[in-house]
Amino acid sequence: MISEAHNTGQYLIFNTTKILDKPVVVASDGVRAMMESALTARDRVGVQDFVLLENHTSEAAFIENLRKRFKENLIYTYIGSVLVSVNPYKDLEIYTKNHMERYRGVNFYEVSPHLYAVSDNSYRSMRTERKDQCILISGESGAGKTEASKKILQYYAVTCPASEHVQTIKDRLLQSNPVLEAFGNAKTLRNDNSSRFGKYMDIQFDFKGAPVGGHIINYLLEKSRVVHQNHGERNFHIFYQLIEGGEEDLLRRLGLERNPQQYQYLVKGNCPKVSSINDRSDWKVVRKALTVIGFSEDEVEELLNIIASVLHLGNVQYGGEDSGNACITSDTQIKYLARLLGVNGTVLTEALTHKKIIAKGEELMSPLNLEQASSARDALSKAVYGRTFTWLVNKINASLAYTDDSYKNWSVIGLLDIYGFEVFQNNSFEQFCINYCNEKLQQLFIELTLKSEQEEYEAEGITWEPVQYFNNKIICDLVEEKFKGIISILDEECLRPGDASDITFLEKLEDTVGGHPHFVTHKLADGKTRKVMGRDEFRLLHYAGEVNYNVNGFLDKNNDLLFRNLKEVMCMSENKILNQCFDREELTDKKRPDTAATQFKASLAKLMEILMSKEPSYIRCIKPNDSKQAGRFDEVLIRHQVKYLGLMENLRVRRAGFAYRRRYEVFLQRYKSLCPDTWPNWRGKLADGVATLVKHLGYKPEEYKLGRSKIFIRFPKTLFATEDALETRKHSLATIVQAQWRGYSQKSKYQKLRNSAIGIQAWWRGILARRRAQRRRQAADTIRRFIKGFIYRHQERCPENEYFLDYVRYSFLMKLRRNLPKNVLDKSWPTPPAALTEASEHLRKMCMQNMVWTYCKRISPEWKHQMEQKMIASEIFKDKKDNYPQSVPKLFVSTRLNGEEINPKVLQALGTEKMKYAVPVTKYDRKGYKARPRQLLLTANCAIIVEEAKLKQRIDYKALKGVSVSSLSDGLFVLHVPSDDNKQKGDVVLQSDHVIETLTKVAICADKINNININQGSITFTVGQGKEGIIDFTPGSELLVAKAKNGHLSVTAPRLNSR
Ligand SMILES: Nc1ncnc2c1ncn2[C@@H]1O[C@H](COP(=O)(O)OP(=O)(O)OP(=O)(O)O)[C@@H](O)[C@H]1O
Ligand SMILES: [Mg+2]
Repeated sequence: MISEAHNTGQYLIFNTTKILDKPVVVASDGVRAMMESALTARDRVGVQDFVLLENHTSEAAFIENLRKRFKENLIYTYIGSVLVSVNPYKDLEIYTKNHMERYRGVNFYEVSPHLYAVSDNSYRSMRTERKDQCILISGESGAGKTEASKKILQYYAVTCPASEHVQTIKDRLLQSNPVLEAFGNAKTLRNDNSSRFGKYMDIQFDFKGAPVGGHIINYLLEKSRVVHQNHGERNFHIFYQLIEGGEEDLLRRLGLERNPQQYQYLVKGNCPKVSSINDRSDWKVVRKALTVIGFSEDEVEELLNIIASVLHLGNVQYGGEDSGNACITSDTQIKYLARLLGVNGTVLTEALTHKKIIAKGEELMSPLNLEQASSARDALSKAVYGRTFTWLVNKINASLAYTDDSYKNWSVIGLLDIYGFEVFQNNSFEQFCINYCNEKLQQLFIELTLKSEQEEYEAEGITWEPVQYFNNKIICDLVEEKFKGIISILDEECLRPGDASDITFLEKLEDTVGGHPHFVTHKLADGKTRKVMGRDEFRLLHYAGEVNYNVNGFLDKNNDLLFRNLKEVMCMSENKILNQCFDREELTDKKRPDTAATQFKASLAKLMEILMSKEPSYIRCIKPNDSKQAGRFDEVLIRHQVKYLGLMENLRVRRAGFAYRRRYEVFLQRYKSLCPDTWPNWRGKLADGVATLVKHLGYKPEEYKLGRSKIFIRFPKTLFATEDALETRKHSLATIVQAQWRGYSQKSKYQKLRNSAIGIQAWWRGILARRRAQRRRQAADTIRRFIKGFIYRHQERCPENEYFLDYVRYSFLMKLRRNLPKNVLDKSWPTPPAALTEASEHLRKMCMQNMVWTYCKRISPEWKHQMEQKMIASEIFKDKKDNYPQSVPKLFVSTRLNGEEINPKVLQALGTEKMKYAVPVTKYDRKGYKARPRQLLLTANCAIIVEEAKLKQRIDYKALKGVSVSSLSDGLFVLHVPSDDNKQKGDVVLQSDHVIETLTKVAICADKINNININQGSITFTVGQGKEGIIDFTPGSELLVAKAKNGHLSVTAPRLNSR
């Protein structure tokens, strides 16, 4: 919506999408915005659209509104879509880049009235509708047309998209202005920078909307200014710029002095300096611009040669010879001219003083008198300057031309900045042309404005009465009609043989158009008018006011003649520009060229054609005062302009029928909240909805009309009242909208979160499912391979079974790893698959070795000793003696008798002999087998049987023949000694409770491991002197040792281990 309301104010507008004054109105949302702000701003700074004026027929109200706004520096106001602009004569901060941005791409009615709004609207229409546009800027001299056109160009240069090429074109478009202004603008009484030519510029845009080229058409330069200026006026700027700004060197080359007073063509107006103009800095700008546009240094030089030549020409002095023939008194100028123009000085001199006549096929040189010579000289100056100006425009056009031949499909926006309606004290041919041009433009304006307005009412089926307005067609006809129009009459006078003069022309006018209501001469006028008219004047009643034209010079200016010999000299010029300007064909062409007025008429007709083919937009410029002062609002002057610009008519037409029109849907959309039946939505026909709404709002029948698709509201106040109601209603609507919006925004936030969560879930599920599926697929593959492998398991390794086989191996190895034997005694070992039998065996051995190795590394020396003894015991007794298994878990001890248990005397008797083992034993007598307690001591060399303190028997190990023992569980054993040893009393029968331990020790000490005999049934032993004893062993229930009746020693021993 609209934000600014203050200075810029806001604008209430018809819902136009097109800015042109066709009141063809198309609904748009923007209306809402603009109405609202128009309401807030309408009192303080006047209305931004004159259509909103309550009293729209009052010129006073109109001007008051302009005044109010002008005071507030609001120089722009609309009439519908026509922009009225009042020259502020001061710099306003409303043309900054920020402002441009504010208007860019924004609907016309959403922002305050501005040139940029119009520019942007045209641009967008061009882009969206692909229809060529034109912006017509009109207003009298000094009203700000040229400024407006420059600002529009700047707007496009800044806001349109650009590429590198486009940037160059933009620069050239912008730089064409200072150049054309230097050569075509001048200080006049009305305007310090008055355009003395008409300019229509096409800006070409490509399909992307970038400016890619341009083309300028110039209209009728006021050439007479080159040779003459009214008091207080100047020649074209370029002369002063060159003299003030040109470098010393340059001036020297051109033969110029830095003093404008020196030049006849610059002193006529007696106004070489103007405070608002800095010729020196302007010179720099122009020089730079020439380069940007693409002028080479040579071209610039030649151009300046021509400008300097014109000044020199002006200074050519004639002296009258007695004969009355003109001659040139000083040849200084001629020398310069000859050099600068590259012509022959003598020929030039002759051409400036003579006229070539062809009589009877013969060429004759007829001398000119002083007056004729001066006017020939001036004609040459005008022709040279005028043609150079046209060359300049062509040159600029060449530099702006879009060079891409492949792309012809551009759209254009045309800018028309043409001289405004002009009334001076003395008006001549130029003013006649200028004002005629303005008539034509007014005609176009009226045509388009009224026609479309009427068409709309018709289209909508609204009955309306045509508004009376002044149609200036009658004046246009008066000027341009074939045969009967002023131009035709003028041409006729110019062409006819005989002594035609300006006065005869005037008379002819009186004869032909004397009765025309818009034409008066001194002769035809009433007494009152006669007082203000000269006899050599005619008056036209223009749409913009009455203008008296002095006919003096009309014929000459219309003929625009240049003597043939001067033309010839110019054709011979070595100056390249002049060479292009003066074509030799001109000399041979017998056909008389069209007169100036006819050419102008034709060019205007062409212009009208161009403008008619485009969608026009209007900017009507108003000049607030004649003194170029800021802040001065000259009501009389303004009223006059308002009048002749037809602004009141424009407004009246706009308001005649209805101040507002709005498409039904737009109207309903905006105001539906004001009626319960239409709020929040109207379901029926739009027209019915609008009818219901306005009925509810209490519109009176005369206040509105319903058309086919639009409602037409006659008075602004009706709409204002509705707007005010809407304003009030808006607060409550705002609350609803807020609540709705909050709800909506929260809901969408929630929805977004939810959707995100669902999205994530779906993804994650997808991932999981894919993983699962993959696992299943792998599993199925594995199973399939397994089954196949199982089927082929007995075959050679092949692709079908390799996996299976590998797996079987692998799983065996893994199982083995988990179930390795825990210790050396653990004999468990998983069953290997056939293929691994051998490897398994190797592994098993390695494992065992490893365990043994580990075990061995761990055992202590004591334990090792113990184990060694146990090993020996095992070797001797394992599976041979019944009580051996019982002995295995019992550790062997180093001795069964400690020091105190052995008699000291025995120890003493042993001396140094170290005792290795001692054990209490029972000795059975050889005879009678009486059991006696004894101690058996083992030393390194012998076994000793001890009784208390006595060493009863000592058996050297060497003498020990062997040891016998039974296979039963008893503890009896016999130490066999040789029977022939007298020291011995025969074999010894002993019994030990630790028989396994005792005998193992004996075997080790005596090194008789292989001499331990284990006997079944009985043991025979020697008793001495060849006698033998026998011990019978029988298994029984308990241990019993006794002498049997057969004299044998009978031992019954319980069976401990069944075998
Ligand atoms: N929008 C503006 N802001 C400030 N000054 C302006 C503005 N428009 C015009 N002027 C002033 O008014 C002077 C005259 O304006 P401009 O040359 O545009 O008039 P014009 O309508 O083109 O007149 P002419 O018909 O003589 O060429 C400018 O030189 C400038 O000083
Ligand atoms: Mg101008």
